[in-house]
Amino acid sequence: MTGKIYSASTTAPVNIATLKYWGKRDTKLNLPTNSSISVTLSQDDLRTLTTASAAEFFDCDKLWLNGKEESVEGNRIRACFAELRAVRKVLESANPELPALSSYHLHIVSENNFPTAAGVASSAAGFAALVRAIANLFELPQSPEELSRIARQGSGSACRSMFGGYVAWDMGQSDDGSDSRAVQIATQEMWPDMKSVILVVSASKKETSSTVGMQTTVNTSSLFKYRAEVLVPQRFKEMSEAILAKDFETFGRLTMMDSNQFHAVCMDSSPPIFYMNDISRLVVGLIETVNKIYGRVVAAYTFDAGPNAVLYYLEKDEPIVLGLLKAVMPDVDGWNKKPNTASITPTVPEGVDQRAFPALAAGVSRIILTSVGPGPQPTDEILINDDGLPK
Ligand code: DP6
Repeated sequence: MTGKIYSASTTAPVNIATLKYWGKRDTKLNLPTNSSISVTLSQDDLRTLTTASAAEFFDCDKLWLNGKEESVEGNRIRACFAELRAVRKVLESANPELPALSSYHLHIVSENNFPTAAGVASSAAGFAALVRAIANLFELPQSPEELSRIARQGSGSACRSMFGGYVAWDMGQSDDGSDSRAVQIATQEMWPDMKSVILVVSASKKETSSTVGMQTTVNTSSLFKYRAEVLVPQRFKEMSEAILAKDFETFGRLTMMDSNQFHAVCMDSSPPIFYMNDISRLVVGLIETVNKIYGRVVAAYTFDAGPNAVLYYLEKDEPIVLGLLKAVMPDVDGWNKKPNTASITPTVPEGVDQRAFPALAAGVSRIILTSVGPGPQPTDEILINDDGLPK
């Protein structure tokens, strides 16, 4: 059976936190124990493209991710569907001429422009795209801030991918999560020269998922309480101010301190959680050395729930940062994606110990050169065919 299919598509970006979300006070609603801050990365390099469609003849909700059908039975995705349908229903009740999309089943098709094997957190972009695509399909008037409250229920960090530029997730206070949402601190245009490079480090063992890791930390770490209650609120204020003042020195210093502290509370958990590995630590050593040599923060590192390193730096320092990476890993996959980097001269600042270079070159499987970017963008590209299936 066929019939009219309503469709809408969007893209959504990846974000990488510079002040980490780690710990939930409500695991069902994904309410965090502290506020967090992130930078949204360019969708030219990393993005999810999602089409949401609804039709009276669909007989159940379905989801395809990168060509593979996935379950829609998870509580998180169901929570997103339910919330979005509820707001659509309000519109339909006010205007009976609207098609009853809230009562139709949904087919969602989603594709990433980066390989899943890269191990770059894709749940944030994935849930942000899912929520934005359905909101577009339902023609919801809700602001990105209001929609971020829904995306948060899919994956906490997804709420920050509803915006471009520099984004805060305000933890909120209420038990129902109504005030736990993302807000934009600054647009990408306000501080456009922020660059980023992701060093993809292959992990030999399966990592502890964020959800499980966070609960272990909340339940067992004594350092964690002090971080969440005392240190993060101070840092949140300082980092927000640094972003608005385009003060890279402070922004970078706080980013590194916060990454290190997040991994410290992981290690303070029982059993301890190790996300960084030897390669991650070599990256820390290299960046700390370079910053010391220059007497300022040239680049800042941060690590999420895995061994990949994400570096932030300003465009003016590209010759230093990329020059060094070229000297360390001239043949790594990723340079070829950016032909303009061909002119960068491999350069090792005097004082850098080169003994770690071979291990770094062997341990990093790919680099992703990117920069700050915009939030979700509607697109005419439709991933669903006339039968309501992936094209
Ligand atoms: C280390 O958002 O993936 O990347 O809410 O359980 O889906 P869930 O967790 P998730 O956790 C991200 C943790 C982090 C830090 C951050 O992004 O702020």
